[in-house]
Amino acid sequence: MVTKSELVDVIKSTHNQDQFRELNWTGSFGQYLDLVVEQPDILRTAHQRIYDMILSFGSEEIVVSKEKLTRYNFFSDPLGGGKEAIFGLEKTLAGLVDHFKSAAYGYGSEKRVLLLHGPVGSSKSTIVRLMKRGLEHYTRTTEGAIYTYSWRVEEDGKELIVPCPMNDEPMRILPYDARQRILSGINATREDTYRLRIEGEPDPVSRYYMEQLLKQYDGDLNKVLEHVVVRRIALSERDRVGIGTFQPKDEKNQDSTELTGDINYRKLAEYGSESDPRAFNFDGEFNVANRGLIEFIEVLKLDVAFLYDLLGASQEHNIKPKKFAQTYIDEVIIGHTNEPEYRKLMNNELMEAFRDRTVKIDVPYNLRLDNEIRIYEKDFSQSRISKHIAPHTLEVAAMWAILTRLKPARKGDLSLIDKLKLYNGKSLERYTEENVKELREENAREGLEGISPRYIQDKVSNALVRDYSATCVNPFMVLNELQDGLDHHSLITSEDLRKHYRDLLAVAKEEYAEIVKNEVQRAIAADEEQIQRLCANYIDNVKAYTQKEKVRNQYTGQEEEPDERLMRSIEEKIDVRDSAKDDFRREIMNYIGALAVEGKNFDYRMNPRLQRALEKKLFEDQKDSIKLTSLVSSVVDRETQEKIDVIKSRLIKNYGYNEESATDALNFVASIFARGDVKSKS
Ligand SMILES: Nc1ncnc2c1ncn2[C@@H]1O[C@H](COP(=O)(O)OP(=O)(O)OP(=O)(O)O)[C@@H](O)[C@H]1O
Ligand SMILES: [Mg+2]
Repeated sequence: MVTKSELVDVIKSTHNQDQFRELNWTGSFGQYLDLVVEQPDILRTAHQRIYDMILSFGSEEIVVSKEKLTRYNFFSDPLGGGKEAIFGLEKTLAGLVDHFKSAAYGYGSEKRVLLLHGPVGSSKSTIVRLMKRGLEHYTRTTEGAIYTYSWRVEEDGKELIVPCPMNDEPMRILPYDARQRILSGINATREDTYRLRIEGEPDPVSRYYMEQLLKQYDGDLNKVLEHVVVRRIALSERDRVGIGTFQPKDEKNQDSTELTGDINYRKLAEYGSESDPRAFNFDGEFNVANRGLIEFIEVLKLDVAFLYDLLGASQEHNIKPKKFAQTYIDEVIIGHTNEPEYRKLMNNELMEAFRDRTVKIDVPYNLRLDNEIRIYEKDFSQSRISKHIAPHTLEVAAMWAILTRLKPARKGDLSLIDKLKLYNGKSLERYTEENVKELREENAREGLEGISPRYIQDKVSNALVRDYSATCVNPFMVLNELQDGLDHHSLITSEDLRKHYRDLLAVAKEEYAEIVKNEVQRAIAADEEQIQRLCANYIDNVKAYTQKEKVRNQYTGQEEEPDERLMRSIEEKIDVRDSAKDDFRREIMNYIGALAVEGKNFDYRMNPRLQRALEKKLFEDQKDSIKLTSLVSSVVDRETQEKIDVIKSRLIKNYGYNEESATDALNFVASIFARGDVKSKS
């Protein structure tokens, strides 16, 4: 039980009064200048701030397919504890950060619409969401602090505080040359990074009060600035500060005021003129997102008229509301789009201007199995769901997803499953890293088509709720869901494609059979003592063979020729060909020799290949004694049952099964052996 005083303590400790005070800082314009001197970074543009925000989480250099890339920790969602982490996509994300970098330096990207382009469910929205959350967090920290201002004015004998409706940078009130002189002083000390810039006119409301006050004080700017109250803000999507989202509704209902704000008719009566900025609502999405980021969902579904607003907003950093003055904005504009809309854009001459002002970044699906698995492990982590997920369940689903995304190689007879393994970092005979890089490059559309993670997520969820009697979900349940869903998958447009996807389910199933068979084999053969004995026996023979000596038979004490049949029966298990056996044996002896020099003993676990071979050999020797196939029949004698229980407990202990999934796995493997179609490849 929790007590009330504990709850009170929790509340006290989570509400941070110091932070509240800091975030609600207000001061005079003069005090703001002190802050600027102390921390010039508070003047950053939206692009600069977002760039620094991403960098603030650190990065590391990695190599993907022989290409050096920077991986930014930010996209692992450190703020959300990894809940929205992006896996893979290193190249895409590095490209995205480069875009912000170039915008930070003012190389032109800050005048472009960033267009995330990719198939459904490729994490476009997730990436944007991360950036929004990142900004919200960053502007609450000291290094990410951001400020705006209000006017303290008197109207009709009453003192009014009028906030700058666009949350503008306070320094923007200053005339151009004052800004330039201040900046040149500051920028002189910033040789190793981008320059700070303060561009654009103040918003119309501020211009209005400036003019009024300048008149009142006969042009004395210092007096005018005394009416400025600077305050710190924190960007917040919920509070509509610095973060906006725009989603096109149906075409007839699109109204540009949603983007650029609207006349406030109630106030219009009061102020009498449509062009009086005080009678204008700066509540369009562009207004709201000033200083931060605006996201356009399905941007290419926007009415053409809107796209022109978008062009002005990006290229000139200006928005032009109906019947109202142009307004300067400083914000990152990100849109996302799927393939069909993008293709329409490419085919539309009228849209050339738009195309020219966008920077397109492809956000493809993962092609690396390990990363795809991590997506589903995150969604279906065992701590979040009550049902047990049998080992390899998510792996098999992920495998199928990747297979649907792969294109056949141009040359050679590389199967899709082998291509998948190559991409996943496995080395295959005849393929170098250089080949893998070529494979990746030969088909630019690879990763832009296929099954989306969302489909997999939905079907795994279905499998989880489907059969209430089972304590676990196994790969077959998920594969069945995946298959059933194919019949009414709205994005599969041709029967050929449907058939192809179905065939790939069979490929994934076959691959699973291999995996689980190996695992059961290893569990059966996991008797340490026996492996060690077999290993010692093998090594004795190999030693004699390489040194052209005889072996002493343990039982008869007689000297005999090395047991070639025994050695080969082990080596064959891992495809050591007859022509390669001498090398293999010599290598092992050299290794053992080197160990001996250091005074160490050989252990079979030091050589995973040999270990695998020994396990397989043992499994083969024991298979019949355990009568695996009898598992599929209902009558099992006591002795067999005991052995089966040992194997099950090993599966549970070493491989993450539970009682039911271990039984399933054993039954499945038994059925394979009962059919007798055993592939003896590893
Ligand atoms: N590379 C990835 N890393 C982590 N999660 C991913 C990845 N790709 C997709 N996902 C997951 O897939 C789901 C769909 O992602 P999201 O909604 O961001 O896609 P989207 O590209 O915006 O799709 P749409 O085009 O349909 O709007 C999310 O749960 C997301 O976490
Ligand atoms: Mg989306």
